Amino acid sequence: MNPAVDFRWPFATRPLTPKLGAEISGVNLAQDLSEDVFRAIYQAFLRYQVLLFPPQDLPPARQVALGRHFGEVQIHVMNQYHADGFPELYRLSNLDEKGNPTGHHPDKGTLAWHTDGSWQKVTGQATIIYGEIVPDTGGETHFCDMYGAYERLDAAWKARIANLRAVHNLDFSRSRRHGEDPLTEAQRLAKPPVDHPVVRTHPETRRKCLYLGDHAEYILGMPYDEGRALIEELNALAVHPDLTYEHCWKTQELLIWDNRCVMHRATSYDAATQGRVIRRCTVLGEVPA
Ligand SMILES: [Fe+2]
Repeated sequence: MNPAVDFRWPFATRPLTPKLGAEISGVNLAQDLSEDVFRAIYQAFLRYQVLLFPPQDLPPARQVALGRHFGEVQIHVMNQYHADGFPELYRLSNLDEKGNPTGHHPDKGTLAWHTDGSWQKVTGQATIIYGEIVPDTGGETHFCDMYGAYERLDAAWKARIANLRAVHNLDFSRSRRHGEDPLTEAQRLAKPPVDHPVVRTHPETRRKCLYLGDHAEYILGMPYDEGRALIEELNALAVHPDLTYEHCWKTQELLIWDNRCVMHRATSYDAATQGRVIRRCTVLGEVPA
């Protein structure tokens, strides 16, 4: 992308790493965004893949409105997590009604590298998360660049995976990792497994990226165990320290990322003594190709 476009953006950007992520300052997200400001945010989103906004008060309705600028907002099948009467928001919290830590991690599936919504036909575009309460240590969010992950594969790897499709399954990723809070039968039936290309082309930048993560269970047309091993190997190969951004949260920060070209994970924290409340909005994208 033309670097000169920066000079037309109505906000300041500060890269978070040499390759991935930028902090955006000078935008008040609690006010409705003009089309010009949103267009610039969207250009920055495509260019940097991960955007960080500094601490600010963002009521739930404003977070939903921000999500709607990006596109159709997902109503998550796991309705026990819906927040503040907004089915468009999903709250991950380890606090009880009195605000005390329960010791129970609300979604251990987030600790493995994944990409949001890869378990459905129309997958996640942007995820927008807001840190209502963050722990003193741990509970970080890490990102890795899946354009770079693909580009760094050697020619033999690229040839091997060029036409493969992986089956993604939310029930698999949740139950395999920890077996807590499994899907109900109705939720399972509502979200059957789907298959997507292992190498997808980003629909807007037209760059190729690796598209796997922890929801990917097996490879179509390959013996199950062989496909499992291939997915685990590629998920590990995808993560390069110089193509990774590790975010340590401050309260009321907001992060937006592009699920089509990054994987992410949360790190653990002491859920018995520390509070962590994250409010999430996921925007639907397209069927990967
Ligand atoms: Fe996620």
